[in-house]
Amino acid sequence: MDKLVVEGGRALKGEVMISGAKNSCLPIMAASILTDDACVINNVPSLRDVDTMVKILMALGINGRKEGSVFIREKGPCRHVVAPYEIVSTMRASICALGPLLAKKKEAKVSFPGGCIIGPRPIDLHIKGLKCLGADIKVEGGYIVARTKQLKGADVFLGGHFGSSVLATANVMMAATLAKGETVIHNAACEPEVEDLANFLVKMGASIEGQATPTLRIKGVRALHGAEHNVIPDRIETGTFMLAASITDGDILLKGAMPRHIMALIDKMNELGSDIRTTESTIHVRRRKRNIKACTVTTLPYPGFPTDMQAQIMSLLSVADGISVITEKIYPERFIHISELNRMGADILLEGPNAIVKGVRSLSGADVMASDLRASAALVLAGLVARGKTSIHRVYHLDRGYERIEEKLIRLGARIRREKEK
Ligand code: EPZ
Repeated sequence: MDKLVVEGGRALKGEVMISGAKNSCLPIMAASILTDDACVINNVPSLRDVDTMVKILMALGINGRKEGSVFIREKGPCRHVVAPYEIVSTMRASICALGPLLAKKKEAKVSFPGGCIIGPRPIDLHIKGLKCLGADIKVEGGYIVARTKQLKGADVFLGGHFGSSVLATANVMMAATLAKGETVIHNAACEPEVEDLANFLVKMGASIEGQATPTLRIKGVRALHGAEHNVIPDRIETGTFMLAASITDGDILLKGAMPRHIMALIDKMNELGSDIRTTESTIHVRRRKRNIKACTVTTLPYPGFPTDMQAQIMSLLSVADGISVITEKIYPERFIHISELNRMGADILLEGPNAIVKGVRSLSGADVMASDLRASAALVLAGLVARGKTSIHRVYHLDRGYERIEEKLIRLGARIRREKEK
């Protein structure tokens, strides 16, 4: 297992190229189950989760390969219907094979994804939505077993306790493309990754209206064909590099980004003292004021502040002037990073779903444990500003979602290296 060793205290400066969005390309790759034709997906990042999705497709009998940043789904039918535990247990996004398999093969057996370090992650909305389309669904031997004679269009309401669901919307939308008649998804997730998936499905011949709104109308068609698509830039990687500029008092130009997808963070960073200039595809971040101001942050479904940026902004606010309050409204238990940030000298108290962050003058390097993907990124940010050496253990989480992060940081002037754990 690898660890990352960061020596903090250097202002990051220069340019960084943003990679394609992990959370877009995973469902898009799963959507290729819906056709027998070849598909070409460009701007696919090299990540462990992408490799896992390739393994799932292979388990289903679909040949696919990655060449650089291009994923090629070869021509040929999906031959099997089982997404096995060994693969699904390593990545929850495997659940997005369920909808396309059911629509295409009328049958699917996908391992139940189970719990997760960021808190309970139920799949009731996925099951409810697919049942509305006429699927018969049971849980047997740890697998979700779904069957249908023919999916039929229906009105589906996809709101849960914590609002809309990104992957439930993706699953139901994919299934509805081959259902008989019209499906209307109410309270659909509006995240850019859902919009990107809808755009890919339309290129495959699907009939979808209402992209990026809470009401999606999908008219089922008989078959979908192959398509080529460019995945949108990763808004969470974008946000992480924006915060890297701010926390190190640096000056970074992000290229190949999409500022309109990360407006909630841009707005927050303006409020707390960053100077942010955008064009359609670049973001230039510098610190405007010497000190970062404290602020309140509440995570919400898009276009609100993303839960996937909560841990990273906590690192920044841990060295801000004053007391900040961060409220997590999507995953109320997504706070494992607090204890690790406190090991580095942060002063953060958890009160229910609220983290109370008292800004400290500085952090000091320590041995810390990465618990999940975004928490790992938060620890890297903290390490960049801390005095001395920070060793981030179990860094494999980071490799699931950030493409060549240390290479990108080194080019910006960070002192960071990967070492094998003894
Ligand atoms: C997606 O997960 C992302 N993953 C997550 O990113 C992200 O944190 C999340 O959306 C929220 O934005 C991928 O796209 C692969 P949800 P998803 O269903 O779709 C509740 C990362 O770090 N819920 O939108 O699984 C759920 O518990 C990952 O890249 C139900 O109650 O999340 C949560 O409170 C982590 N029932 C809320 O909805 C359900 O059936 C939103 O979750 C499904 C979800």
